[in-house]
Amino acid sequence: MLTTRLARDGAGLNSLAPNLYRLTLRPPLAVPRMESLTEMGAGNAVQNVSLGEEIVRRVNELAAISEDGDKLTRIFLTKELRAASDVILGWMREAGMSAHLDAIGNVCGRYDGEQPGAPCLMLGSHYDTVRDAGKWDGPLGVITAIVCVSDLNRRGKRLPFAIEVVGFADEEGVRFASTLLGSRAMAGTFDESVLNTRDRDGVSMRDALLEFGLDPDHIGAAARARRELLAYLELHIEQGPVLEARNLPVGVVSAIAGATRLAARLTGMAGHAGTVPMALRRDALTGAAECIGAIEQFCRTDEDGLVGTVGYIQARPGATNVIPGEVSFTIDMRAPTDMHRKRAVADVVRQIEAIAKRRQLALQLDVTHENRTVPCAPWLKDQIAQAIAAEGLSTFELPSGAGHDGMAMIDIADVGMIFVRCRGGISHHPDEHVELADADAGARVLLRVIEHFKPRAA
Ligand code: GLV
Ligand code: MN
Ligand code: MN
Repeated sequence: MLTTRLARDGAGLNSLAPNLYRLTLRPPLAVPRMESLTEMGAGNAVQNVSLGEEIVRRVNELAAISEDGDKLTRIFLTKELRAASDVILGWMREAGMSAHLDAIGNVCGRYDGEQPGAPCLMLGSHYDTVRDAGKWDGPLGVITAIVCVSDLNRRGKRLPFAIEVVGFADEEGVRFASTLLGSRAMAGTFDESVLNTRDRDGVSMRDALLEFGLDPDHIGAAARARRELLAYLELHIEQGPVLEARNLPVGVVSAIAGATRLAARLTGMAGHAGTVPMALRRDALTGAAECIGAIEQFCRTDEDGLVGTVGYIQARPGATNVIPGEVSFTIDMRAPTDMHRKRAVADVVRQIEAIAKRRQLALQLDVTHENRTVPCAPWLKDQIAQAIAAEGLSTFELPSGAGHDGMAMIDIADVGMIFVRCRGGISHHPDEHVELADADAGARVLLRVIEHFKPRAA
């Protein structure tokens, strides 16, 4: 059951139990876990925790939908993504929304405002995952938004604007080289040339869409117009250690850092591991190893937040007694500013070119993804900060090093983001964890932002 006395009587937890709330939630004191709130027996506190309980229950339910028995892996346009979309569409309808799957596989729910057809406050995140993922990255934002709408619906509350909730089908970009495919389609910036890219099994995106039940020639139908959106707001786990270090359950995101991703292929000469002398080899894998070491070294010596990752590598033909003739690997580079990132990418590319030349390896290097840094809108940051303060919590702004769907949605709406603390800053890993009380705090902040939302002054 989703109940919030906070929202129902419009008073807020602070005015109901100011001492309890400030004492328990204001840093530097630790946020109590759900059990301790329950033990306190404070009716309002227990009631509010139930938003978090509902979120955790649904996060677990969605995490059970995976292609990989004991691990969570849910990739774009797979049957697992389809099964997850059905579950989310069901939750949206239960929450009083009209809901459908759009032309790229995004799940879209709409909760009309006082007048039908009004522009919407759009809430969203993604429901695809990386391989062997944590269960909170993406689903937390989708589920929290649905739980908030469900709460409004149960109270029969309509707002002067509509609320739309979106679960984006591909934020992670695991299957095809491109990322943000769901939000790009919605923002009308989907690059149709990526339809011909193939996954590791050789399946083209075009065929994968058809298999999923979608028409690759109608992706344009997913696009939304700027006039339909008042703002795009996303709640997401922080995926870093900053909120935890500051003992804060939630934070206001200042900007989403840009990223560049490249695909590299080095081609040398495959040969017999026992007969070709070391000096005569053109080993693509040792060449790749030197490139990877150079990337790490370059990023480590940068003191201004540059990060570089080689997260995928494949050596061919791939046998113990064969010198690798061809190696493919990916590079992901991010920095706090676009200029810094671009300069660093150019330096790394020069180093890779030099290594390939010296080792007589052919090099193919393609930029597969490039996203500029996206600042969050000051007027949305203010409204989020006000909601956090009204919940009796300290407000704190932090940048996002991770990418988010807002990077694409910025083309049709101002973007705001709420971060929720995660344990140990761990993400893209099965140990990713959000405490129930923090999920609850995030939901209360989001609900408050929604209920007090003021569209940007014209
Ligand atoms: C998305 O999770 C990214 O930042 O890579
Ligand atoms: Mn992620
Ligand atoms: Mn994410």
